[in-house]
Amino acid sequence: RKVLCVVGARPNFMKIAPVMRALSAQGIDASLVHTGQHYDAGMNERFFEDLRIPHPEMNLEVGSSSHAVQTAEVMRRFEPVLDEFRPATILVVGDVNSTIACALVAAKKGVGVIHVEAGLRSFDRSMPEEINRVLTDQISDLLFTTERHALENLVREGISADRVHFVGNVMIDTLLDNLDRALPWREFLKASGVDTHMFEADSGFGAVTLHRPSNVDTPHTLAALVETLNEISQDLPLVFPVHPRTSSRLEAFDLVKKLDRSRIALIPPAGYLEMLGLMRDARVVLTDSGGMQEETTALGVPCITLRENTERPITISEGTNVLVGNDPQKILNAFRDVMSTGGKRGRIPEYWDGKAAERIAAVIGKWLADRG
Ligand code: UD1
Repeated sequence: RKVLCVVGARPNFMKIAPVMRALSAQGIDASLVHTGQHYDAGMNERFFEDLRIPHPEMNLEVGSSSHAVQTAEVMRRFEPVLDEFRPATILVVGDVNSTIACALVAAKKGVGVIHVEAGLRSFDRSMPEEINRVLTDQISDLLFTTERHALENLVREGISADRVHFVGNVMIDTLLDNLDRALPWREFLKASGVDTHMFEADSGFGAVTLHRPSNVDTPHTLAALVETLNEISQDLPLVFPVHPRTSSRLEAFDLVKKLDRSRIALIPPAGYLEMLGLMRDARVVLTDSGGMQEETTALGVPCITLRENTERPITISEGTNVLVGNDPQKILNAFRDVMSTGGKRGRIPEYWDGKAAERIAAVIGKWLADRG
């Protein structure tokens, strides 16, 4: 076996799908290991079906725990897998705990490490993903970037530019590939058993997702966000698929009953084709997700990002994204701007053209051949 691909959590799945397809189209032998970081059907299996990802050879079933324990468990369980598969290289995507854990095991064993979505920086080390990004890039042999800026970040950190290839965005490969399969939002709401009464006016809807610890782990911050969403929803009804972390915090802080359920539809985490339909059809997306900032830019839909910073600056400089943090007034101002002007218009960033995975596979094919 040549390339052992790794996934662990929801944002990895849409990135690995086109890469594995492109590798096999190049005749490169690739297989998949799942760390099991995400395990709920709604966070996991549905994506494999929707995105037609090959069945993983193995699931390490690490599940949830503290960052240290989760990372350590992935490492402990991944080492024997490397011994068994003996790949020439592993390939990791994104910035979740599984990404750094597997990269570190491979690097220590002298196995190659390829990082897809390298060089993104929020410059905020309080974000667990920022630590994962910086460390994974340091120990990667081959780094693929989604935007030109990323190269500067890597070179500043001492990474040699000849390891870095600007190829575009594999998540957008998946988006373009699936856009015509995306579920229309009304169908999705009906199928989810939502009372569609509030959506009957033709004014459309807004889509909301929240799961960052900085937004959902502190009672007063989450309570203020709930109030803000209530206020927004009076002008535009909202669809809010709730991440498991957020769901448990809303319960624990006794906030579920504070949400105006007559204007905000709470639903379980959405599948890929459902979420794609929601984003495509929404008037505005409010989120703290990394990936959705890019997906809304690709779709040309205004995105209000409830974070103080972003590791994906091209979504601001070229795309439809605005950063507002979690200050209620800033969120409301951005929302009102969308309602009155239609929000920010952007353009599609360079190489977000559906062919990033093909470029990656071509570089990997040559790299493997050069290494013998
Ligand atoms: C992880 C990633 C984050 C990504 C997010 C998308 C890291 C550091 N973070 O955060 O970058 O944006 O995934 O979802 O890797 N849980 C379930 N079922 C699941 C998975 C999680 O109930 O299938 C619950 C558990 O209570 C768990 C909590 O969600 O404690 C958090 O899960 P975890 O994998 O630690 O991180 P995420 O917050 O999902």
